[in-house]
Amino acid sequence: RGLTQHTLLYFTNRSTFGVTQSSQYHFIAENKSWYEAQRYCREKYTDLAKVFDMTDMSRLRNSTQNQGEAWIGLNNNTGGNRTWHWSLPGVEYIHNDSSWDLNGRYGTEKPGNCGRKRYDNGDKKLVDVSCNHTMWFICYDGEKITSQNWKEGQSYCRSIYTDLASGLNQVDGEEMKDLCINSTFSAWVGLFRDSWRWSDGSDFSFRYWDMELFNDEQSNKTCAMTLLNRSGKWSSDECDREKPFFCYDDKLILIKENKTWEEALDYCRKYHRVLVSITNHYQQRWAEVRAKNASSPFVWLGLRYSCTLGLWFWVNDKLVCYEKWSKNGTTEECDVAVGMQSGGQHEWFSQRENQTYNFFCLK
Ligand SMILES: *[C@@H]1O[C@H](CO)[C@@H](O)[C@H](O)[C@H]1NC(C)=O
Ligand SMILES: *[C@@H]1O[C@H](CO)[C@@H](O)[C@H](O)[C@H]1NC(C)=O
Ligand SMILES: *[C@@H]1O[C@H](CO)[C@@H](O)[C@H](O)[C@H]1NC(C)=O
Ligand SMILES: *[C@@H]1O[C@H](CO)[C@@H](O)[C@H](O)[C@H]1NC(C)=O
Ligand SMILES: *[C@@H]1O[C@H](CO)[C@@H](O)[C@H](O)[C@H]1NC(C)=O
Ligand SMILES: *[C@@H]1O[C@H](CO)[C@@H](O)[C@H](O)[C@H]1NC(C)=O
Ligand SMILES: *[C@@H]1O[C@H](CO)[C@@H](O)[C@H](O)[C@H]1NC(C)=O
Ligand SMILES: *[C@@H]1O[C@H](CO)[C@@H](O)[C@H](O)[C@H]1NC(C)=O
Ligand SMILES: *[C@@H]1O[C@H](CO)[C@@H](O)[C@H](O)[C@H]1NC(C)=O
Ligand SMILES: *[C@@H]1O[C@H](CO)[C@@H](O)[C@H](O)[C@H]1NC(C)=O
Ligand SMILES: *[C@@H]1O[C@H](CO)[C@@H](O)[C@H](O)[C@H]1NC(C)=O
Ligand SMILES: *[C@@H]1O[C@H](CO)[C@@H](O)[C@H](O)[C@H]1NC(C)=O
Repeated sequence: RGLTQHTLLYFTNRSTFGVTQSSQYHFIAENKSWYEAQRYCREKYTDLAKVFDMTDMSRLRNSTQNQGEAWIGLNNNTGGNRTWHWSLPGVEYIHNDSSWDLNGRYGTEKPGNCGRKRYDNGDKKLVDVSCNHTMWFICYDGEKITSQNWKEGQSYCRSIYTDLASGLNQVDGEEMKDLCINSTFSAWVGLFRDSWRWSDGSDFSFRYWDMELFNDEQSNKTCAMTLLNRSGKWSSDECDREKPFFCYDDKLILIKENKTWEEALDYCRKYHRVLVSITNHYQQRWAEVRAKNASSPFVWLGLRYSCTLGLWFWVNDKLVCYEKWSKNGTTEECDVAVGMQSGGQHEWFSQRENQTYNFFCLK
């Protein structure tokens, strides 16, 4: 049947667009208030810019020569409703009462906005304390270091390692047991809570505040800007001030219709450009955020097994260099393609092509 034909088609129909990113930043050199800027971006692109991690920040800065201030899509108009985040980008915070000890603070201290954890065998719960305390902290790669406040700990971990320890799997994991085996101590982990939210509602936890200029205290400066002449670091200003701004354009689209893999492929070619390829962690994470909104248990990716060639390949001809297979999820046989789980770990599973799922197109 069509398999060989398809295979040939994919290999001859070489795409000229090297899709490496799933979103693109646009610097708009017009002075607008934050809300006017938001309206503009939503009309012309997807929304005001959001920033997932340091790589995004670098892409954002590289998209303009401008050295002034510019709005980004983060604001504090939430009435002070603070929510918890793990510091390491991409680690989702899932609340679980049993991880917390709400009476574990020092003396009569009020609840704070940073997360501390006590390491010993009995009491190992998280406690919400003031970010100003100085104590040991633990970086994501599993080194404990003395003795700073939360923000300093985060800067240190980001400069030397990755970030503060993030995610319950990590802060409760075996590595930590090894690290703490001979002592009992309290340490910062990568938990913080703030009331800042992204314009498009996503829960990206990355913050890049310029601590010399930014103060998260009571203030009427409730919109965030990037200071391009200070390495792009962020500060806040009153939302009705007029500034240039950054929009982002989303290239990844979740189609919430159930189609077989080939129908999905045709649909994307007809209405957008191509069924999605995922070639790095960043794109995987970008897709994960959207996969949660799918109405089917899996979401088709543009990755298929060729029995004739005996290998997996992306429909845009890319070889598989990044992968996120489930441990038991790969079956190499004819007529299978890859579905990403819409929930859980968002791992990849082989699925028969005649299954019908939602899918991702790139535009
Ligand atoms: C925006 O405002 C700044 C300062 O008020 C001004 O220097 C700049 O020329 C303005 N830019 C545009 C495009 O109007
Ligand atoms: C931004 O530009 C700098 C200097 O040209 C380059 O080293 C860096 O890789 C670029 N960042 C990204 C994410 O492309
Ligand atoms: C950065 O730009 C702001 C105004 O946009 C200015 O006030 C500040 O002095 C500049 N800082 C540096 C280090 O150039
Ligand atoms: C606070 O924010 C969280 C998460 O965005 C939301 O679930 C909750 O309903 C909000 N609470 C209030 C009082 O607005
Ligand atoms: C919360 O954590 C406890 C202990 O780790 C676990 O048994 C429970 O399943 C978790 N609850 C949820 C809703 O994840
Ligand atoms: C944290 O320390 C700073 C500077 O030392 C001080 O201005 C601020 O009030 C302190 N915040 C809390 C919550 O203790
Ligand atoms: C714990 O103590 C034992 C014996 O004193 C020592 O051999 C081991 O290296 C220590 N482990 C750590 C992680 O400090
Ligand atoms: C954000 O808003 C809350 C509530 O209005 C306020 O408590 C907090 O200080 C604000 N932060 C900044 C930086 O404006
Ligand atoms: C914000 O606060 C500053 C200083 O407290 C004040 O000068 C300014 O008028 C305020 N702006 C608004 C929009 O309330
Ligand atoms: C897609 O299929 C799932 C079951 O796999 C179903 O729950 C969902 O409602 C379907 N969505 C649409 C848009 O038909
Ligand atoms: C893979 O293994 C998990 C548990 O280890 C199981 O729940 C799941 O059904 C398995 N999936 C497949 C496709 O076999
Ligand atoms: C999908 O194809 C397999 C064999 O290729 C067949 O056994 C199965 O019944 C088909 N499923 C559907 C839903 O058509």
